[in-house]
Amino acid sequence: MNDKMRIIKIFDTTLRDGEQAPGCSMNLNEKVEVAKRLEKLGVDIIEAGFPVSSAGDMEAVKAISACIKDSAVACLCRCLEKDIDAGWQALSKAENPRLHVFLATSPVHMEHKLKMTQAQVLEQAVFCVKYAKKFCNDVEFSAEDAFRSDPDFVCKVFGAVINAGALTVNFPDTVGYAMPDEFGRRIRYVKENTPGMERARLSVHCHNDLGLAVANSIAAIANGADQIECTVNGIGERAGNASLEEIVMALKVRRDYFNADTRIDTTQVYSASRLVSQVTGIKIQPNKAIVGDNAFAHEAGIHQHGVLANRQTYEIMRPEAIGIPKSRIILGKHSGSHAFEARLKELNIDIDEETFKKVFSQFKDLADKKKTVSDRDIEALVMDNTVSVPETWRLDHWTVTTGADSKRRSAAFGEIRLLHKDGESKIFSVKGDGPLDSIFKAVNKITGVEPELELYELGAITDGMDADGSSSQGETMVRIALDIDGSRRCWNGRGVSTDVIESSIKAYLSAVNAMLHDIKKLPGFPGSLNICF
Ligand code: KIV
Ligand code: ZN
Repeated sequence: MNDKMRIIKIFDTTLRDGEQAPGCSMNLNEKVEVAKRLEKLGVDIIEAGFPVSSAGDMEAVKAISACIKDSAVACLCRCLEKDIDAGWQALSKAENPRLHVFLATSPVHMEHKLKMTQAQVLEQAVFCVKYAKKFCNDVEFSAEDAFRSDPDFVCKVFGAVINAGALTVNFPDTVGYAMPDEFGRRIRYVKENTPGMERARLSVHCHNDLGLAVANSIAAIANGADQIECTVNGIGERAGNASLEEIVMALKVRRDYFNADTRIDTTQVYSASRLVSQVTGIKIQPNKAIVGDNAFAHEAGIHQHGVLANRQTYEIMRPEAIGIPKSRIILGKHSGSHAFEARLKELNIDIDEETFKKVFSQFKDLADKKKTVSDRDIEALVMDNTVSVPETWRLDHWTVTTGADSKRRSAAFGEIRLLHKDGESKIFSVKGDGPLDSIFKAVNKITGVEPELELYELGAITDGMDADGSSSQGETMVRIALDIDGSRRCWNGRGVSTDVIESSIKAYLSAVNAMLHDIKKLPGFPGSLNICF
């Protein structure tokens, strides 16, 4: 590596800004699993949540702090003492904690949201950085909506918070308004005009409202930014945040241009992307750079010919560089545990011995039903055994009869039997407007909850038929919601099966189990809702 090569820090906010996005909520196990994968990926800082915002975020930051050793763990706090107190409580077990405090500096935010003057914002920012420093040496300050703020005011605030002890100052384009050239120039201006900048790192945090979050982040690096805030698959508020994999690979592929790199182990990029997509249920668009299904596919004959002659004709990076497995071992019912273990390794999936035994036995059952088991099938089995919340109710048996009369009025009759974790078994039959309506109603009757179905998505794990002609498994994503004390809470559930009705029931039941697991912990439950546990 060149002597003067700069190392850019990667601050991942998948679990905070990413998780804040509609439909991206994750349960505790999922968050911990994602954090472990981010650590393996080599991110420098994992922003694990916003502890004061909810009991779930507090619990997640605590759990992640307790198990992550190689990355710093950060959490978000408004510039308020109670937020910083909660943040520090959540981070107390972290090996490398970082308190991240933020306050808006733009005229529109100061006037309409904060109702504060510039002088008050400056004073509050300094006060809170000093307050956070009492607990934690590593303090980051973000000037929310920095790009739409007066540049000289941002430099003044940054200078003052650096003086108060902030080790990182972050310049967000909160609403994704900047153009790359303009953003690069602004970063250079801030770097050159902030008093004491040589004592702190300059970070950027770009949103993707105009599709420019990655371009703006890259322009910032070229103009002196030392840290990039980003998310896996670019998930995040509205159109999302800058995508980690795109920034990291741009730096790697064009090191000649930037003379900068990151600490990321790029061979872990693909598995991290798959995990985040699976736990959030947010599918990756096929033509997404780096991790989309088509990112390394060559369709046109002229391209295929070129790639066969020499890959460099149409490939600027190898799929192996991001951890897409090279070999195409086909697993089936004759595959033994060694072949299965080897495939897990190639997929960068790490599981303990006990989980391995469970997953392997389920793999054998699946291989009996399907001719071959794809990588996506394996990922799904691992997910079911690692990140699902404990089951209050387990599916035992179901039947559905369905049909439509000559006027195409459908009628269905569903029956389901669920087993409670304490051993009780309940059965319920109900009519509905279709097979899923009847069976979901039966689940509601047994579990005693009536959530709203916000999202139902049915797909195939692999497209249509698997390559060898064996049918693909059905994968269902479900999101359910409840209004609790005036605020709306959502839970995701996933189900996979060779039968699409069964995958739908599993998805619905896993969302209901996640909900029961969560609301049991809320004060006053059960009681204000008609819930039987
Ligand atoms: O977009 C933003 O401004 C943020 C800050 C809280 C860093 O997410
Ligand atoms: Zn943001």
